Amino acid sequence: HKQLTIGLFGFGVVGEGLYQVLKQTPSLKASIKRVCIKNPEKKRNAPAELFTTDRDELLNDEAINVIVEVIDDADAAFYIVKTALLGGKHVVSASKKMIAEHLTELLQLQQQTGQSFLYEASACASIPVIRNLEEYYDNDLLHSIQAIVNGSTNYILTKMFEEKLSYRDALLQAQQLGFAESNPKLDVEGYDAVNKWNNLLAHAYGIVTSPEKILFTGIQSVQAFDAQVAEERHYVIRLVAQAKKLESGKVAAFVLPQFVQASDHLSFVRNEYNGVVIESGFADKQFFYGKGAGSFPTASAVLSDISALRYDYRYEYKKLYHHTPGELTNDYYLKV
Ligand code: HSE
Repeated sequence: HKQLTIGLFGFGVVGEGLYQVLKQTPSLKASIKRVCIKNPEKKRNAPAELFTTDRDELLNDEAINVIVEVIDDADAAFYIVKTALLGGKHVVSASKKMIAEHLTELLQLQQQTGQSFLYEASACASIPVIRNLEEYYDNDLLHSIQAIVNGSTNYILTKMFEEKLSYRDALLQAQQLGFAESNPKLDVEGYDAVNKWNNLLAHAYGIVTSPEKILFTGIQSVQAFDAQVAEERHYVIRLVAQAKKLESGKVAAFVLPQFVQASDHLSFVRNEYNGVVIESGFADKQFFYGKGAGSFPTASAVLSDISALRYDYRYEYKKLYHHTPGELTNDYYLKV
């Protein structure tokens, strides 16, 4: 077993969660050597000597062979990931926004450096959704995916419409529980969901696109009246990310609040949970379900990526490199 020596960037909800999780999993033989943080004044639940504000201390440390990056700032995150990969280190990241903004460059960096770049924690937290999507054979057999990929908005919708909490209180709870982004507008207005969807499309269909090309809106315009209509007709409202293979062979993808039938799997996805319903050839329907936000559920995905480095796991981007990549179309929703 090679020793995994980690340089950790970020000690927020996910970073601290990972620190705790690694303490409870000594058999993994992965240890955090140093943690780079932005604000040295903040009180941290870890020994002070672990922390630094100098990112080069981690990036230039030869003894560190794994960089785990769980920070907020997408530009800083990209610099860190790029420098680490070029410096011969494996990288585990949870920065969905950064990945969405730089997917093309990140693909190239992976090919160029041969290092592992894993980011299971960047979508649906505890659900191993990226790996599973890679396993579906070929584009044509992946008929459709419907998913709830943002925990905060799902939490808010659940609390507002099932427990009659105000929007403000529901959002406040989502923030206090560590589900929301530091700028919660990213959750509420659908940016976080579309960033995740952008990244998942690469693994599901080999589509490398950018969030601006995907139709999306968040839950900002959902009103009490909508919930009332939904309830009367036995529907619930969910922020649904969808991808659908059309007869033309192209893929329609979007993120929109939708009425979901009470009998639908996604209606069972409540609070900060996420869910993914996949319809595929020969296999019919599968449903993946689990916590989609929060400290330990997200740290569990980072842990899984770190452990995968033991056997040099890399994403294969099968649909992109080994099949005919899918093509995104806007035709579908322009017609409806
Ligand atoms: N703000 C995100 C969410 C965190 O609510 O889903 C997990 O990616």
